[in-house]
Amino acid sequence: MKIIGTGSALPKKIVTNDMLSEFLDTSDEWVTARTGINTRHIITTERFEDLATEAAGRAIDASGLCPDDIDFIICSNVSNLYVTPHLSAIIQANLGIKGPNCPTMDVNSACVGFVYGLDLCDALLTTGRARNILLVAAEECTRFCDWNDRNCTVLFGDGAAAVVVTKGDSLIYSKLTSVPMPDVIVYKNPMEPTPYETREGIDTRMPLQMKGREVFRMAVTSASRDISKAVDTAGLSLDDIDHFLLHQANLRINEAIRENLKQPDSKFPTNVQRFGNTSSASIPLLLDEGVREGRIRRGDTMLFSAFGAGFVTGTMILKY
Ligand code: ACO
Repeated sequence: MKIIGTGSALPKKIVTNDMLSEFLDTSDEWVTARTGINTRHIITTERFEDLATEAAGRAIDASGLCPDDIDFIICSNVSNLYVTPHLSAIIQANLGIKGPNCPTMDVNSACVGFVYGLDLCDALLTTGRARNILLVAAEECTRFCDWNDRNCTVLFGDGAAAVVVTKGDSLIYSKLTSVPMPDVIVYKNPMEPTPYETREGIDTRMPLQMKGREVFRMAVTSASRDISKAVDTAGLSLDDIDHFLLHQANLRINEAIRENLKQPDSKFPTNVQRFGNTSSASIPLLLDEGVREGRIRRGDTMLFSAFGAGFVTGTMILKY
């Protein structure tokens, strides 16, 4: 596969740490020092599905294709108002792609969903099941936070980013992993109990719960290991990688990974300072920014590395 277009869209409202400290027992000093996050974009007047569609439309424009050339849509998505229909079906409708020959599906692999989705794109293209795939990663993480809980609320932001992929030979390496650790990051959708429900103490709502320190340790260890293995297996060295696009959860996590790998800061673009943790949208947001600002150029070698609830990881090396 190869990526032929990128796009992104962010909500208008920018919320600073000081704005959060007006109603949470937190401070700009604490959030900046512990996470590197200064601001995040939060959905207010926009509709989330419009934001996802905007990112998708921009990626299609950048690819030089038109919406009807798309014959598969995958949307990575953890947090989304709609449980059904799936967001990729809504995006298809918004883009005016009539079908029926454009299947749509959503992927939920937490913050790694974009890398999981891209791996799936490669499989679909390789087996000839699709020719031009739209992959969107769209998240409204701020909706699953408990807004009285300073532990989680300060970390997240909303955003959407997309790529169009087609047949090509850009992919050098891809590895997805999953280790069963279902309780490190948990969010449960609110559900109405049925009249037959007999269990005591059923959780009808559980805002995001996270074992922050454990996630921090897992993230640094797994990403450092996955990245070293990726370059070794691909017969490359770390110096051959032009851009390390890491999931943006906490600047300190990414700095620890970079220090383990002994690579220069300039190869690790970041957006967590401005956008907070946008879950699976964070890597394609970095990619789109890099491409549009001319920092990521055709022929550059990129490495994507993400970790997330599950506990899942994904690592990919590809030429842009
Ligand atoms: N403002 C002020 N104080 C706070 C806040 C806050 N927002 N949150 C916690 N504190 C306090 C704690 O209560 C604690 O106080 P105490 O010492 O009196 O008990 C103190 O700050 C230290 O808390 P820790 O949790 O130990 O702080 P830590 O340095 O571990 O930072 C953090 C917490 C930022 C959550 C960090 O552990 C982290 O980033 N972990 C990874 C989170 C992550 O990546 N999550 C992924 C989400 S989903 C995904 O992307 C895969």
